[in-house]
Amino acid sequence: MSPDITTRPIALVGLMGVGKTTVGRRLARKLGREFFDSDDEIELASGRTVAGYFRDHGEDEFRKGERRVIERLLDGKPIILATGGGAFIPDATRKVLNEKALTVWLKGDFNTVMERVSRNREKRPLLRVDDPRAKMRELMEARHPIYAKAHITVPIARGPHVRTVHKVIRAVKTHVSQNA
Ligand code: S3P
Repeated sequence: MSPDITTRPIALVGLMGVGKTTVGRRLARKLGREFFDSDDEIELASGRTVAGYFRDHGEDEFRKGERRVIERLLDGKPIILATGGGAFIPDATRKVLNEKALTVWLKGDFNTVMERVSRNREKRPLLRVDDPRAKMRELMEARHPIYAKAHITVPIARGPHVRTVHKVIRAVKTHVSQNA
């Protein structure tokens, strides 16, 4: 376990497929912190899958539930939080995240995220469309300027997720020392 690098919660934001959950879980293990995934917490709290929630209540309601869950999770201990890909987009949720956590944008390139999401589309209702590549391009164009409002940007590393974990740790240390 590394010595802790910040006293704040760390929230990972970014598109589907960048590795927020895997990187977050490993980061938490390294820092000796608790890990949460906002999608899992929404599923636990609502008793529905993310896809079911979208289907039954629509995206707007999902975003409200997502904000409530994130607020609750960030109100306690300095956890590591992996957010759903859309969580950082609404102003209100982004405000909560940026105020209560150190936010890290895991920035992926198109081919890497497409390759990764094609393995697991169950949880991802937004990609259940005729042309998921076009949808991903659209999301990338619309969202990248918003993810850039995170405190820290970390381009994901090629290869194993552990490399990205190390990049995140280095980037957080640099950010903390520059903003002390
Ligand atoms: C979404 C991303 C998903 C999930 C939901 C909506 C999005 O999370 O929250 O399908 O709007 O990009 P992951 O980024 O963990 O796949």
